[in-house]
Amino acid sequence: MKPDTDACLQFGSSPVAPVSVDAAERTLPPMVELRGVRRTFGSEVALAGVDLSVSRGRVMALLGPNGAGKTTLVRILAGLLRPDSGAVSIGGIDALREPRSLRRAIGLSGQFTAIDELLSGRENLELVAQLHHLGRRETRQRARAALNRFGLCEVADRQAKTYSGGLLRRLDLALSLVARPLLLVLDEPTTGLDPHSRLDLWALLEELVADGTTLLLTTQYLEEADRLGHEIAVLDQGQVVAEGSAAELKARAGGDLIELHASTEEDFDRARTALIGAQPDLFAEPSRCLLRLPAKDGSSTLSEILRILDGAGVAIEDIALRRPSLDDVFLALTGHAAKRGPAEA
Ligand SMILES: Nc1ncnc2c1ncn2[C@@H]1O[C@H](COP(=O)(O)OP(=O)(O)O)[C@@H](O)[C@H]1O
Ligand SMILES: [Mg+2]
Repeated sequence: MKPDTDACLQFGSSPVAPVSVDAAERTLPPMVELRGVRRTFGSEVALAGVDLSVSRGRVMALLGPNGAGKTTLVRILAGLLRPDSGAVSIGGIDALREPRSLRRAIGLSGQFTAIDELLSGRENLELVAQLHHLGRRETRQRARAALNRFGLCEVADRQAKTYSGGLLRRLDLALSLVARPLLLVLDEPTTGLDPHSRLDLWALLEELVADGTTLLLTTQYLEEADRLGHEIAVLDQGQVVAEGSAAELKARAGGDLIELHASTEEDFDRARTALIGAQPDLFAEPSRCLLRLPAKDGSSTLSEILRILDGAGVAIEDIALRRPSLDDVFLALTGHAAKRGPAEA
């Protein structure tokens, strides 16, 4: 979807300069800087001292399972919640000292939606523009541009309660961008969306980023972090346990892996029993009937495994040697498998 009016081209461009990370950009302070951010709820430690930095014009994907502390972090960034200790700066603004400037600097969207379902998409957008004290003309223009950009023109004057999940998510995103924030923060933007709406939203987010929006999104989905995140921070139990590009994280998972699919569950069980003796590092994932074997020397291990399986009379459907995926990294770091998206279920 390409914007087709001048107003659209304007929309979503942030007040900071366009954002390929060139030399000039690098000299600016990071868009987001967290230092030692800690937050507890009673005896529950939601954030156990988080350091995080997001450069301008980049996408940071905060990847973590349920309960990792993602929403707590997002609420702190948005000024909706105070940390017990630590420092938060956004676009050079000390977020804890100047919560009001902060709210102007960031656009927030996700699990706590601002949509009034009794109003139409257009009315929702105009309302938010008015809340930001934009004049009548500007308000109408921005609403129109947003409807265009987010493919909402056809449903613009229908009550939001008649929208599908995908349309609501788009409207939510449009609302968070009406005020042209420096930073867009999205809390699990595609959770609950069908595969089609998900791909759709990803494409839209990529457009926004191409236009210069800095994006911090949280996700439980590896492919989402892989596809959108320039940087990925893995959050587990309130701590960043790893940080880097998808490629860097994958490299941390170590050597090659051998993935084995057995024909039947009995074969799988037999394969597991036969291999566990030979490969103590073996990890089996019963739900998907596959085995992951960290292999130091992939090809020789593969032939050894084939020999063991042959000896045990196991029928193999498929066996392959491959590089670790982000999935493997996640498992290695957090001890549990990541959530699968609807496209992969
Ligand atoms: N308002 C709250 N009151 C009590 N506990 C909370 C509250 N918000 C979050 N928590 C706890 O903090 C931890 C992190 O929660 P959350 O930030 O919502 O994680 P995520 O968004 O990654 O699923 C969880 O154990 C959760 O139960
Ligand atoms: Mg959450």
